Amino acid sequence: MSRKRIVITGGAGFIGSAVVRQFIRETDNVVINVDALTYAGNPESLAEARDHPRHVFEQVDIRNRAELERVFRDNKPDAVMHLAAESHVDRSIEGPAVFVETNVAGTQNLLEASRAYWAEQDAEKRDNFRFHHVSTDEVYGDLDPDDPPFTEDTPYAPSSPYSASKAASDHLVRAWHRTYGLPVVLTNCSNNYGPYQFPEKLIPLMILNALEGKPLPVYGQGDNVRDWLYVEDHAYALRHVLEKGVDGRTYNIGGRSERTNLEVVRAVCATLDRAAPDSEGAYERLIQFVEDRPGHDRRYAIDDSRISDELSWQPRERFDTGLEKTVRWYLENQAWTERVRTGAYREWIETNYGHRGALI
Ligand code: NAD
Ligand code: TYD
Repeated sequence: MSRKRIVITGGAGFIGSAVVRQFIRETDNVVINVDALTYAGNPESLAEARDHPRHVFEQVDIRNRAELERVFRDNKPDAVMHLAAESHVDRSIEGPAVFVETNVAGTQNLLEASRAYWAEQDAEKRDNFRFHHVSTDEVYGDLDPDDPPFTEDTPYAPSSPYSASKAASDHLVRAWHRTYGLPVVLTNCSNNYGPYQFPEKLIPLMILNALEGKPLPVYGQGDNVRDWLYVEDHAYALRHVLEKGVDGRTYNIGGRSERTNLEVVRAVCATLDRAAPDSEGAYERLIQFVEDRPGHDRRYAIDDSRISDELSWQPRERFDTGLEKTVRWYLENQAWTERVRTGAYREWIETNYGHRGALI
Protein backbone atom coordinates (compact mmCIF):
# COMPACT_ATOMS: atom_id res chain seq x y z
CA MET A 1 0.00 0.00 0.00
CA SER A 2 1.33 3.44 -0.88
CA ARG A 3 2.28 5.88 1.85
CA LYS A 4 -0.61 8.24 2.69
CA ARG A 5 -0.50 11.72 4.17
CA ILE A 6 -3.26 12.14 6.74
CA VAL A 7 -4.33 15.30 8.54
CA ILE A 8 -5.52 14.39 12.04
CA THR A 9 -7.18 17.23 13.95
CA GLY A 10 -7.15 17.02 17.75
CA GLY A 11 -4.15 14.68 17.62
CA ALA A 12 -2.79 15.92 20.96
CA GLY A 13 -6.00 14.96 22.80
CA PHE A 14 -6.99 11.67 24.38
CA ILE A 15 -8.34 9.73 21.38
CA GLY A 16 -6.43 11.69 18.73
CA SER A 17 -3.08 10.93 20.36
CA ALA A 18 -3.92 7.22 20.45
CA VAL A 19 -4.70 7.38 16.71
CA VAL A 20 -1.46 9.25 15.97
CA ARG A 21 0.63 6.81 18.02
CA GLN A 22 -0.98 3.85 16.21
CA PHE A 23 -0.49 5.34 12.75
CA ILE A 24 3.17 5.99 13.46
CA ARG A 25 3.75 2.61 15.12
CA GLU A 26 1.81 0.38 12.74
CA THR A 27 1.74 2.05 9.32
CA ASP A 28 4.03 3.84 6.93
CA ASN A 29 1.75 6.91 6.72
CA VAL A 30 2.71 10.51 7.39
CA VAL A 31 0.57 12.20 10.07
CA ILE A 32 -0.05 15.94 10.00
CA ASN A 33 -1.31 16.66 13.50
CA VAL A 34 -3.43 19.84 13.66
CA ASP A 35 -4.14 20.83 17.25
CA ALA A 36 -4.61 24.19 19.00
CA LEU A 37 -3.35 22.73 22.31
CA THR A 38 -6.29 23.81 24.48
CA TYR A 39 -6.34 22.67 28.12
CA ALA A 40 -7.17 19.16 26.79
CA GLY A 41 -4.26 18.93 24.33
CA ASN A 42 -0.83 17.81 25.43
CA PRO A 43 2.15 17.01 23.16
CA GLU A 44 3.47 14.67 25.87
CA SER A 45 0.55 12.35 25.10
CA LEU A 46 2.16 11.66 21.72
CA ALA A 47 4.98 9.75 23.43
CA GLU A 48 7.24 8.05 20.87
CA ALA A 49 5.36 9.62 17.92
CA ARG A 50 6.16 13.18 18.99
CA ASP A 51 9.61 13.47 17.40
CA HIS A 52 9.11 10.87 14.69
CA PRO A 53 10.08 11.97 11.14
CA ARG A 54 6.64 10.93 9.84
CA HIS A 55 4.87 13.17 12.38
CA VAL A 56 4.35 16.86 11.52
CA PHE A 57 2.88 18.99 14.29
CA GLU A 58 0.88 22.10 13.32
CA GLN A 59 -0.32 24.16 16.27
CA VAL A 60 -3.39 25.54 14.52
CA ASP A 61 -6.90 26.39 15.67
CA ILE A 62 -9.57 24.91 13.38
CA ARG A 63 -11.47 28.19 13.69
CA ASN A 64 -8.67 29.89 11.71
CA ARG A 65 -9.51 29.39 8.03
CA ALA A 66 -6.35 31.02 6.61
CA GLU A 67 -4.11 28.80 8.73
CA LEU A 68 -6.05 25.69 7.73
CA GLU A 69 -5.61 26.59 4.07
CA ARG A 70 -1.87 26.97 4.64
CA VAL A 71 -1.76 23.54 6.32
CA PHE A 72 -3.44 21.96 3.27
CA ARG A 73 -1.12 23.81 0.85
CA ASP A 74 2.03 22.87 2.76
CA ASN A 75 1.15 19.25 3.51
CA LYS A 76 -0.97 18.05 0.55
CA PRO A 77 -2.98 15.43 2.48
CA ASP A 78 -4.78 12.38 1.04
CA ALA A 79 -7.30 12.33 3.88
CA VAL A 80 -8.55 14.23 6.92
CA MET A 81 -9.58 12.58 10.18
CA HIS A 82 -11.37 15.17 12.29
CA LEU A 83 -11.29 14.73 16.07
CA ALA A 84 -10.61 18.27 17.35
CA ALA A 85 -13.47 19.31 19.59
CA GLU A 86 -14.50 20.53 22.97
CA SER A 87 -15.47 17.18 24.46
CA HIS A 88 -16.68 17.43 28.06
CA VAL A 89 -20.43 17.52 28.77
CA ASP A 90 -20.09 19.21 32.19
CA ARG A 91 -17.95 22.01 30.70
CA SER A 92 -20.57 22.48 27.95
CA ILE A 93 -23.18 23.06 30.64
CA GLU A 94 -21.02 25.70 32.37
CA GLY A 95 -19.93 27.44 29.13
CA PRO A 96 -21.59 26.36 25.87
CA ALA A 97 -20.31 29.12 23.53
CA VAL A 98 -16.90 27.58 22.81
CA PHE A 99 -18.61 24.26 21.97
CA VAL A 100 -20.54 25.96 19.18
CA GLU A 101 -17.46 27.89 18.06
CA THR A 102 -15.12 24.89 17.85
CA ASN A 103 -17.44 21.95 17.20
CA VAL A 104 -19.83 23.67 14.78
CA ALA A 105 -18.07 26.70 13.26
CA GLY A 106 -14.64 24.98 13.44
CA THR A 107 -16.00 21.93 11.60
CA GLN A 108 -17.59 24.13 8.94
CA ASN A 109 -14.23 25.90 8.50
CA LEU A 110 -12.42 22.58 8.15
CA LEU A 111 -15.02 21.33 5.66
CA GLU A 112 -14.60 24.47 3.56
CA ALA A 113 -10.79 24.30 3.64
CA SER A 114 -10.98 20.58 2.74
CA ARG A 115 -13.43 21.21 -0.09
CA ALA A 116 -11.35 24.03 -1.60
CA TYR A 117 -8.24 21.81 -1.51
CA TRP A 118 -10.11 18.72 -2.79
CA ALA A 119 -11.62 20.64 -5.73
CA GLU A 120 -8.12 21.59 -6.95
CA GLN A 121 -6.79 18.01 -7.07
CA ASP A 122 -6.62 15.77 -10.15
CA ALA A 123 -9.41 13.21 -10.69
CA GLU A 124 -7.56 10.30 -9.07
CA LYS A 125 -6.64 12.21 -5.93
CA ARG A 126 -10.19 13.62 -5.71
CA ASP A 127 -11.70 10.12 -5.94
CA ASN A 128 -9.45 8.74 -3.24
CA PHE A 129 -9.79 11.70 -0.84
CA ARG A 130 -11.65 11.12 2.45
CA PHE A 131 -13.00 13.44 5.16
CA HIS A 132 -13.59 11.27 8.24
CA HIS A 133 -15.71 12.96 10.91
CA VAL A 134 -15.31 11.48 14.39
CA SER A 135 -18.45 11.83 16.46
CA THR A 136 -20.28 10.45 19.46
CA ASP A 137 -23.27 8.23 20.29
CA GLU A 138 -24.56 11.12 22.44
CA VAL A 139 -26.12 12.69 19.30
CA TYR A 140 -28.89 10.06 19.51
CA GLY A 141 -30.05 11.24 22.95
CA ASP A 142 -30.77 8.68 25.65
CA LEU A 143 -32.44 5.31 26.01
CA ASP A 144 -34.73 3.74 28.59
CA PRO A 145 -33.39 0.58 30.23
CA ASP A 146 -35.25 -1.79 27.89
CA ASP A 147 -34.94 0.17 24.64
CA PRO A 148 -32.97 -1.41 21.79
CA PRO A 149 -29.49 0.09 21.28
CA PHE A 150 -28.71 2.96 18.88
CA THR A 151 -28.41 2.07 15.20
CA GLU A 152 -27.16 4.39 12.47
CA ASP A 153 -30.85 5.13 11.69
CA THR A 154 -31.81 6.23 15.21
CA PRO A 155 -33.15 9.82 14.97
CA TYR A 156 -30.94 12.55 16.41
CA ALA A 157 -32.12 13.91 19.79
CA PRO A 158 -29.12 15.45 21.59
CA SER A 159 -29.59 16.58 25.21
CA SER A 160 -26.52 18.62 26.21
CA PRO A 161 -24.82 21.62 24.57
CA TYR A 162 -21.92 19.23 23.81
CA SER A 163 -24.04 16.60 22.08
CA ALA A 164 -26.09 19.27 20.27
CA SER A 165 -22.88 20.81 18.90
CA LYS A 166 -21.63 17.39 17.77
CA ALA A 167 -25.03 16.63 16.17
CA ALA A 168 -24.83 19.94 14.27
CA SER A 169 -21.34 19.08 13.04
CA ASP A 170 -22.53 15.65 11.83
CA HIS A 171 -25.30 17.33 9.84
CA LEU A 172 -22.80 19.74 8.27
CA VAL A 173 -20.56 16.86 7.18
CA ARG A 174 -23.50 15.04 5.56
CA ALA A 175 -24.61 18.25 3.84
CA TRP A 176 -21.11 18.83 2.40
CA HIS A 177 -21.27 15.28 1.01
CA ARG A 178 -24.73 15.62 -0.49
CA THR A 179 -24.40 19.20 -1.78
CA TYR A 180 -20.76 19.41 -2.85
CA GLY A 181 -19.91 15.72 -3.31
CA LEU A 182 -17.08 15.83 -0.74
CA PRO A 183 -16.17 12.18 0.02
CA VAL A 184 -16.94 11.60 3.71
CA VAL A 185 -17.35 8.87 6.32
CA LEU A 186 -18.73 9.38 9.82
CA THR A 187 -18.35 7.39 13.02
CA ASN A 188 -20.39 7.67 16.23
CA CYS A 189 -18.71 6.03 19.17
CA SER A 190 -19.56 5.29 22.79
CA ASN A 191 -17.56 6.34 25.90
CA ASN A 192 -13.83 5.76 25.62
CA TYR A 193 -11.40 5.05 28.43
CA GLY A 194 -7.68 4.32 28.60
CA PRO A 195 -4.27 5.99 29.05
CA TYR A 196 -3.82 9.76 28.58
CA GLN A 197 -7.48 10.66 29.24
CA PHE A 198 -7.80 14.09 30.82
CA PRO A 199 -8.81 13.65 34.47
CA GLU A 200 -12.07 15.59 34.15
CA LYS A 201 -13.74 12.45 32.73
CA LEU A 202 -15.25 9.76 34.95
CA ILE A 203 -12.63 6.99 35.01
CA PRO A 204 -9.38 9.01 35.37
CA LEU A 205 -11.05 11.40 37.83
CA MET A 206 -12.02 8.44 40.03
CA ILE A 207 -8.55 6.87 39.82
CA LEU A 208 -6.74 10.07 40.76
CA ASN A 209 -9.19 11.12 43.48
CA ALA A 210 -9.01 7.65 45.05
CA LEU A 211 -5.20 7.70 45.10
CA GLU A 212 -5.34 11.04 46.94
CA GLY A 213 -7.99 9.81 49.41
CA LYS A 214 -10.52 12.32 48.03
CA PRO A 215 -14.29 11.67 47.63
CA LEU A 216 -15.45 9.86 44.47
CA PRO A 217 -18.36 12.05 43.28
CA VAL A 218 -21.07 9.90 41.66
CA TYR A 219 -23.85 11.97 40.07
CA GLY A 220 -27.40 11.16 41.21
CA GLN A 221 -27.86 7.50 42.14
CA GLY A 222 -25.06 6.25 39.87
CA ASP A 223 -27.58 4.28 37.81
CA ASN A 224 -26.96 6.01 34.44
CA VAL A 225 -25.62 3.53 31.92
CA ARG A 226 -22.78 4.04 29.44
CA ASP A 227 -21.13 1.65 26.97
CA TRP A 228 -17.34 1.64 27.40
CA LEU A 229 -14.70 1.12 24.69
CA TYR A 230 -10.94 0.92 25.23
CA VAL A 231 -9.31 3.81 23.36
CA GLU A 232 -6.88 1.63 21.36
CA ASP A 233 -9.89 -0.32 20.02
CA HIS A 234 -11.51 2.95 18.96
CA ALA A 235 -8.31 3.99 17.19
CA TYR A 236 -8.26 0.66 15.29
CA ALA A 237 -11.91 1.13 14.33
CA LEU A 238 -11.22 4.65 13.03
CA ARG A 239 -8.31 3.48 10.89
CA HIS A 240 -10.48 0.66 9.58
CA VAL A 241 -13.35 2.97 8.61
CA LEU A 242 -11.02 5.52 7.01
CA GLU A 243 -9.55 2.78 4.84
CA LYS A 244 -12.59 0.58 4.12
CA GLY A 245 -15.75 2.56 4.94
CA VAL A 246 -18.22 3.27 2.14
CA ASP A 247 -18.38 6.88 0.92
CA GLY A 248 -21.14 8.85 2.65
CA ARG A 249 -21.80 6.15 5.25
CA THR A 250 -22.03 6.32 9.05
CA TYR A 251 -20.71 3.58 11.35
CA ASN A 252 -21.58 3.21 15.04
CA ILE A 253 -18.71 1.99 17.22
CA GLY A 254 -19.16 0.46 20.67
CA GLY A 255 -17.44 -1.67 23.27
CA ARG A 256 -20.18 -4.23 24.04
CA SER A 257 -19.68 -3.21 27.68
CA GLU A 258 -22.72 -1.52 29.18
CA ARG A 259 -22.24 -0.59 32.83
CA THR A 260 -23.95 1.70 35.34
CA ASN A 261 -21.69 4.48 36.60
CA LEU A 262 -21.74 2.92 40.05
CA GLU A 263 -20.54 -0.39 38.60
CA VAL A 264 -17.73 1.45 36.81
CA VAL A 265 -16.64 3.33 39.94
CA ARG A 266 -16.76 0.13 42.00
CA ALA A 267 -14.68 -1.65 39.36
CA VAL A 268 -12.11 1.18 39.50
CA CYS A 269 -11.99 0.83 43.29
CA ALA A 270 -11.60 -2.96 43.16
CA THR A 271 -8.79 -2.68 40.59
CA LEU A 272 -7.02 -0.12 42.76
CA ASP A 273 -7.49 -2.30 45.85
CA ARG A 274 -5.39 -4.94 44.06
CA ALA A 275 -2.87 -2.66 42.34
CA ALA A 276 -2.32 -0.02 45.04
CA PRO A 277 -3.95 -1.10 48.31
CA ASP A 278 -4.74 1.68 50.77
CA SER A 279 -3.88 1.06 54.43
CA GLU A 280 -6.99 3.08 55.43
CA GLY A 281 -9.32 0.50 53.81
CA ALA A 282 -11.09 -0.35 50.55
CA TYR A 283 -11.39 2.59 48.13
CA GLU A 284 -15.18 2.14 47.89
CA ARG A 285 -15.46 3.95 51.22
CA LEU A 286 -14.71 7.18 49.30
CA ILE A 287 -17.80 6.98 47.03
CA GLN A 288 -20.06 9.98 47.56
CA PHE A 289 -23.40 10.55 45.80
CA VAL A 290 -23.66 14.20 44.70
CA GLU A 291 -26.14 16.48 42.92
CA ASP A 292 -26.95 15.16 39.45
CA ARG A 293 -25.90 16.66 36.13
CA PRO A 294 -28.77 18.69 34.58
CA GLY A 295 -30.31 16.88 31.60
CA HIS A 296 -28.27 13.76 32.45
CA ASP A 297 -28.78 11.12 29.74
CA ARG A 298 -30.02 7.90 31.31
CA ARG A 299 -28.50 5.29 29.04
CA TYR A 300 -26.41 4.94 25.88
CA ALA A 301 -26.00 1.63 24.03
CA ILE A 302 -24.64 0.77 20.60
CA ASP A 303 -25.78 -1.72 17.98
CA ASP A 304 -22.45 -2.35 16.22
CA SER A 305 -23.75 -4.79 13.58
CA ARG A 306 -22.92 -2.51 10.64
CA ILE A 307 -19.22 -2.08 11.41
CA SER A 308 -18.91 -5.67 12.55
CA ASP A 309 -20.78 -7.26 9.57
CA GLU A 310 -19.63 -4.95 6.78
CA LEU A 311 -16.09 -4.09 7.90
CA SER A 312 -15.28 -7.05 10.19
CA TRP A 313 -14.30 -4.82 13.10
CA GLN A 314 -14.86 -5.90 16.69
CA PRO A 315 -13.49 -4.65 19.99
CA ARG A 316 -10.53 -6.71 21.23
CA GLU A 317 -10.33 -5.55 24.83
CA ARG A 318 -12.72 -6.63 27.58
CA PHE A 319 -13.78 -3.98 30.11
CA ASP A 320 -12.00 -5.66 33.03
CA THR A 321 -8.69 -6.09 31.17
CA GLY A 322 -8.87 -2.59 29.66
CA LEU A 323 -9.58 -1.10 33.07
CA GLU A 324 -6.66 -2.97 34.61
CA LYS A 325 -4.32 -1.55 31.92
CA THR A 326 -5.76 1.93 32.44
CA VAL A 327 -5.36 1.90 36.22
CA ARG A 328 -1.79 0.63 35.89
CA TRP A 329 -0.99 3.34 33.34
CA TYR A 330 -2.17 6.09 35.73
CA LEU A 331 -0.16 4.52 38.55
CA GLU A 332 2.97 4.45 36.40
CA ASN A 333 2.56 7.89 34.81
CA GLN A 334 1.98 10.20 37.73
CA ALA A 335 4.33 12.80 36.20
CA TRP A 336 1.91 13.18 33.24
CA THR A 337 -1.10 13.56 35.51
CA GLU A 338 0.71 16.05 37.75
CA ARG A 339 1.55 18.25 34.76
CA VAL A 340 -1.99 18.32 33.36
CA ARG A 341 -3.51 19.18 36.74
CA THR A 342 -2.54 22.84 36.61
CA GLY A 343 -4.21 25.83 38.29
CA ALA A 344 -6.85 25.86 35.53
CA TYR A 345 -7.69 22.23 36.34
CA ARG A 346 -8.14 23.03 40.02
CA GLU A 347 -10.45 25.93 39.10
CA TRP A 348 -12.56 23.53 37.01
CA ILE A 349 -12.86 21.09 39.90
CA GLU A 350 -14.09 23.94 42.11
CA THR A 351 -16.58 25.11 39.40
CA ASN A 352 -18.03 21.66 38.75
CA TYR A 353 -18.00 20.09 42.20
CA GLY A 354 -18.05 23.02 44.64
CA HIS A 355 -21.83 23.44 44.38
CA ARG A 356 -22.62 19.72 44.32
CA GLY A 357 -21.68 19.25 47.93
CA ALA A 358 -18.75 16.91 47.23
CA LEU A 359 -15.93 17.45 49.69
CA ILE A 360 -13.26 17.99 47.06
P1 NAD B 1 -10.10 15.68 24.10
O1 NAD B 1 -10.85 16.79 24.76
O2 NAD B 1 -9.23 14.80 24.93
O3 NAD B 1 -9.16 16.28 22.95
C1 NAD B 1 -9.59 17.28 22.07
C2 NAD B 1 -8.37 17.80 21.32
O4 NAD B 1 -8.84 18.80 20.39
C3 NAD B 1 -7.33 18.48 22.22
O5 NAD B 1 -6.03 18.05 21.87
C4 NAD B 1 -7.53 19.97 21.95
O6 NAD B 1 -6.32 20.72 22.09
C5 NAD B 1 -8.01 19.95 20.50
N1 NAD B 1 -8.83 21.13 20.18
C6 NAD B 1 -9.89 21.62 20.88
N2 NAD B 1 -10.35 22.73 20.29
C7 NAD B 1 -9.59 22.94 19.19
C8 NAD B 1 -9.60 23.92 18.16
N3 NAD B 1 -10.47 24.93 18.16
N4 NAD B 1 -8.69 23.81 17.16
C9 NAD B 1 -7.79 22.79 17.15
N5 NAD B 1 -7.72 21.86 18.11
C10 NAD B 1 -8.61 21.92 19.11
O7 NAD B 1 -11.20 14.86 23.30
P2 NAD B 1 -11.28 13.29 23.03
O8 NAD B 1 -11.94 12.64 24.17
O9 NAD B 1 -9.96 12.80 22.56
O10 NAD B 1 -12.32 13.28 21.82
C11 NAD B 1 -11.86 13.42 20.47
C12 NAD B 1 -13.06 13.37 19.53
O11 NAD B 1 -13.78 12.16 19.69
C13 NAD B 1 -14.07 14.50 19.78
O12 NAD B 1 -14.53 14.96 18.53
C14 NAD B 1 -15.19 13.82 20.56
O13 NAD B 1 -16.43 14.46 20.32
C15 NAD B 1 -15.15 12.42 19.98
N6 NAD B 1 -15.60 11.35 20.88
C16 NAD B 1 -15.09 11.25 22.15
C17 NAD B 1 -15.51 10.19 22.97
C18 NAD B 1 -14.94 10.02 24.36
O14 NAD B 1 -15.42 9.14 25.10
N7 NAD B 1 -13.93 10.77 24.78
C19 NAD B 1 -16.45 9.27 22.50
C20 NAD B 1 -16.94 9.41 21.20
C21 NAD B 1 -16.51 10.45 20.39
P1 TYD C 1 -18.16 11.56 31.37
O1 TYD C 1 -16.85 10.87 31.55
O2 TYD C 1 -18.21 13.04 31.63
O3 TYD C 1 -18.70 11.18 29.93
P2 TYD C 1 -20.18 11.46 29.25
O4 TYD C 1 -20.93 12.42 30.06
O5 TYD C 1 -19.77 12.03 27.93
O6 TYD C 1 -20.84 10.12 29.14
O7 TYD C 1 -19.21 10.89 32.36
C1 TYD C 1 -19.53 9.50 32.25
C2 TYD C 1 -20.68 9.25 33.20
O8 TYD C 1 -20.22 9.43 34.55
C3 TYD C 1 -21.84 10.21 33.03
O9 TYD C 1 -23.07 9.50 33.20
C4 TYD C 1 -21.67 11.23 34.14
C5 TYD C 1 -20.99 10.43 35.24
N1 TYD C 1 -20.05 11.18 36.10
C6 TYD C 1 -20.17 11.11 37.49
O10 TYD C 1 -21.06 10.41 38.04
N2 TYD C 1 -19.28 11.80 38.26
C7 TYD C 1 -18.30 12.57 37.71
O11 TYD C 1 -17.53 13.22 38.47
C8 TYD C 1 -18.18 12.63 36.28
C9 TYD C 1 -17.10 13.46 35.63
C10 TYD C 1 -19.07 11.91 35.52
